[in-house]
Amino acid sequence: ARLVVLVSGGGSNLSALLEATRDPVYGAQVVAVGADREGTGGVAAAQAAGIPTFVERVGAYPSREEWDSALTAQVAAHEPDLVISAGFLKLCGRQFLERFDGRYVNTHNTLLPAFPGIHGPRDALEYGVKLAGATLFFVDAGIDTGVILAQVAVPVLDDDDVETLTERIKVAERAQLVEQVGRLAREGWHIEGRRVRLGTDTA
Ligand code: GRF
Repeated sequence: ARLVVLVSGGGSNLSALLEATRDPVYGAQVVAVGADREGTGGVAAAQAAGIPTFVERVGAYPSREEWDSALTAQVAAHEPDLVISAGFLKLCGRQFLERFDGRYVNTHNTLLPAFPGIHGPRDALEYGVKLAGATLFFVDAGIDTGVILAQVAVPVLDDDDVETLTERIKVAERAQLVEQVGRLAREGWHIEGRRVRLGTDTA
C-alpha cells in the first residue's frame, strides 16, 4: 500500500512509520511526506530517507479553498491508498475530504470523543481523568469526530505534568499507528456506519 504522510512538526509518528516500512513484510511504503509549513522535523526525516516531500502553506494562497485544492492535487499525484495525518495541524477542506474519503486517517492524543482539539493531554490532565490515550480515526468534516479505527489507553499518574503525560501517550500512540496502518495495508478495509471492517469482502 502507498502511504502519504502529512506533518506539521517533529514527526515522531512519521519516523516510527518509516522504521516499520523498512521491512517489506509490513506491506506499505511511505511514498511522500507533506507539510503545511517550512522547516519541520518530519520533512527533514523524509528527505534523509530519500522520500519525496512537499510543503503547502495556507498563506501562499489567496484563499483556504485554493490551498485545499493545491494540497489535494499534491497528495493525489502520489496516488496514495492511505493518507495519514501524523501531527498535521490543519483542517483539510471539502475537496480534500471528498477525494480521500475513507482513506484519510488522523491520530489524536486523547481517548475520543473526550478532549478533541490541539490541547488534548493538557485538557485531560486538568479534567482529572485517570486514563488517557490515543485514538486513530478516519477524518470527516468535524473536529476529531470521525469513525474510530483503534484506541489505546495509558494511565495518568499522580505526579504527571503535561509533558510526562504527553510523552507517555506518544509512545503508545506511535505503536498503535504502526500496528493499525500495517493491518489496513495488508488486509484492506471498508467502513460500515461507524465501524471499520478489515478485509476486502463486503458480505
Ligand atoms: C501526536 O501526539 C498527535 O496526536 C498530536 O501531535 C503529535 C504529533 O507528534 N496531534 P509528532 O509530530 O508525530 O512527533
